[in-house]
Amino acid sequence: MDEILINGGKRLCGDVRISGAKNSALPILASTILGGGECIITNVPRVVDVLTMGKLLGILGVKVSHEGNRAVIHAGTIESTEAPYDLVKTMRASVLVLGPLLARWGEAKVSLPGGCAIGSRPINLHLAGLAKLGADISIDQGYVTAKAARLKGGRIYCDTPTVTGTENLMMAASLAEGTTVLENAAKEPEIVDLADFLVKRGARIHGAGTDVITVEGVRELHGGDHEVIPDRIEAGTYLAAAAITRGDVTATHCRPNHLEAVLMKLREAGAEIQEEKDSVRLTMPKNLRGTDVRTLPFPGFPTDMQAQMAALMSLAEGTSVVTETVFESRFMHVEELRRMGADIRVEGNRLVVTGCKKLTGAPVMASDLRASAGLIVAGLAAEGTTQIQRVYHLDRGYERIEEKLGVLGAYIRRRPAGASH
Ligand code: UD1
Repeated sequence: MDEILINGGKRLCGDVRISGAKNSALPILASTILGGGECIITNVPRVVDVLTMGKLLGILGVKVSHEGNRAVIHAGTIESTEAPYDLVKTMRASVLVLGPLLARWGEAKVSLPGGCAIGSRPINLHLAGLAKLGADISIDQGYVTAKAARLKGGRIYCDTPTVTGTENLMMAASLAEGTTVLENAAKEPEIVDLADFLVKRGARIHGAGTDVITVEGVRELHGGDHEVIPDRIEAGTYLAAAAITRGDVTATHCRPNHLEAVLMKLREAGAEIQEEKDSVRLTMPKNLRGTDVRTLPFPGFPTDMQAQMAALMSLAEGTSVVTETVFESRFMHVEELRRMGADIRVEGNRLVVTGCKKLTGAPVMASDLRASAGLIVAGLAAEGTTQIQRVYHLDRGYERIEEKLGVLGAYIRRRPAGASH
């Protein structure tokens, strides 16, 4: 298993091109199951989760060819309607094939994802929604099986806005008979991107990006072309890295309007930020100041930026409170940040971060995708060498991260674990 070594303290400067959004590419790829025509998807990030989704589609019998950042997909026939445990356990988003398989082929069997490093992550809302659309759902030997000759439109209220749940239900409802109204739907930009792609292929969807989505079912979807939106979390991560190193970085090919809550907090922390149509430049004319952050569904501050923000706050003046409201225990990075000298106290779902003068490099362990990103941000500012183990978490969601940071001037390299210098 690879590890990443960072010699911190280098100011990051220059332009970094933001890749396509992993969390958009995954549902978009899964949605190709909904029709038989050819789909050409561009700006697809080459990250492990996307490759896993390609593998899963392949197992189902969907033809996927992936070249660079372009994927050509053809879901003419199906060979299986089962998403096996071996794949689902490596990527929870595999559950995104549930709605499309059921809607198009009348049946889906998907392994239940099981435990997760960031707390309990049930899929009960996905299942309750599909049941409302008439699916017969059963759970047996770790698998959920859903069956329906044809789904029927209905009214669904989500107790909590769920991103992949909304996507699953929107995809399923696209082929249902009649109209579905999804209330308290998630409003993330990735949902709008998926809806745009589905509409291009003949789906009738209104209200994506608001908390009420209406879907008029159609018989089938045709093929279509689509460019995946930029990854707002990747952009936010590079901007946090720029802030902690007092750098001057421009994130290009991104959408500043998807990043408003993050940019607001970075400004409060002392950053100067210039937004253009598709780029954001961050400089740090002032000292890093503490600021409170509360994670919320979009348009609130994203939980996927919480670890990076906690790392940033650990070097800021004063005390910051970081409150996690989306997931129940997403603080695995805290112990590792403490090993680097950060002063962070966990109080229930809050972190009390007291800014310290410096962080020092240490061997640390990545526990999930965004926790690893937090450790990278900390390592870039730490004195000495930070050795981040279990980098596979990072590879699930960041395209060529060491190369991109290297171009910005970071001393960062990857080596196989156990190898000597
Ligand atoms: C998606 C993102 C992930 C991000 C998260 C929150 C993808 C592939 N992943 O994950 O990066 O951190 O949104 O922005 O897009 N919940 C239930 N029952 C359900 C579903 C969810 O109780 O059936 C709860 C979850 O436990 C959590 C909250 O709802 O507390 C939000 O989770 P959700 O939006 O579903 O996250 P994901 O879609 O899994």
